[in-house]
Amino acid sequence: MIPYSSPSITSLEIEYVVDCLKNKRISGDGEYTKRVTEIFKKKFNINNFLLTTSCTHALELSAFLIDIRKGDEVIMPSYTFVSTANAFMLRGARPVFVDIDPLTLNMDSTTIEEHITPKTKAICPVHYAGVPCEMDSINATAAEHDIFVIEDAAQAVGSTYHGKYAGTLGDMGCYSFHETKNYCMGEGGGLVINDPRYLERAEILREKGTNRSQFIQGLVDKYTWHDIGSSYLPSDLLAALLTAQMERFEEIMSKRLNIWDIYNEAFKELEDDGLVIRPHVPNGCTHNAHIYYLILPSEEIRNGLLNHLNNNNIQAVFHYMPLHISTMGGKLGYKKGDLQVTEQLANNILRLPIFVDLDDKELIKIIDLIIQFLKY
Ligand SMILES: Cc1ncc(COP(=O)(O)O)c(C=O)c1O
Repeated sequence: MIPYSSPSITSLEIEYVVDCLKNKRISGDGEYTKRVTEIFKKKFNINNFLLTTSCTHALELSAFLIDIRKGDEVIMPSYTFVSTANAFMLRGARPVFVDIDPLTLNMDSTTIEEHITPKTKAICPVHYAGVPCEMDSINATAAEHDIFVIEDAAQAVGSTYHGKYAGTLGDMGCYSFHETKNYCMGEGGGLVINDPRYLERAEILREKGTNRSQFIQGLVDKYTWHDIGSSYLPSDLLAALLTAQMERFEEIMSKRLNIWDIYNEAFKELEDDGLVIRPHVPNGCTHNAHIYYLILPSEEIRNGLLNHLNNNNIQAVFHYMPLHISTMGGKLGYKKGDLQVTEQLANNILRLPIFVDLDDKELIKIIDLIIQFLKY
């Protein structure tokens, strides 16, 4: 079976993890966490980056930091992973779902304004497939209404918007380093804090509500309980894995982009013939080739192609079940038909295998099977 995704593990990842084990410093905030944090700060030109146990937890931390409370509202797409909504709901907020732009599958920034109420506390754009959202417009709307922008950049590590990295464009940005992501550590995430006023509290919340982080940095001689908090720091063993991945940043990026470009070129004719719609990357944006997807003309054709690929040992997959039509979405008062672009595209999307070790033979097999199925 050609898997949908597979992490790229080389001798470098193994070397760093073994080194960490040999050093016997395997709890959080050790040498590798420091090292990978510096890589992020330098590469992404940011001042504050906290490695976390997942993107889910980075989102939860951001909800703590902006003081989300019962009754607040957070505007987000319905076409996203459950964590985008859960992070804010755990603090008592209500997710307000908006439809997506059919070209990018990102939240339709032109519909945000009409959803803003006195209860709106934040907008949470999700950079779907690693293609950045319309951040100028989202930030302008947020500034006008004095609300926060928390980027769910789980999929967009390394993508840029007008020269700046996704995740560094709002008040805070959240990354995922889950096994399925471009740069992975098994389970893990990161929080970018663009407004430095939130850094000290973030370090405390991440360390069970204590100022242990200041103690480790030698800023205080003992640490105590300062605030509420939880345990959001990953083992240094996992940071060692991510350090190797980030040192291979360009190599991983270029290999993924190469596969993405080959798919995109191969399916041009299908798009010209009206048989598929290929991904769209807006001007001024670069993407990180996190996902290659096709939009099929109907759910029936999508399912037929999905089965055809699966029967030929290729793990092609669909994606999110829109949150507004999930069981929980129903409890929030949403129903089928509320967000029509989201519902239609969720039914018609197909994602293809994309990972560093996907070889040319496998790639050609996938492309040929798709062209044959759709054309003949
Ligand atoms: C948009 C989005 N947000 C959040 C997450 C959660 O990431 P993690 O598994 O690191 O918690 C994902 C995971 O796929 C995601 O796609």
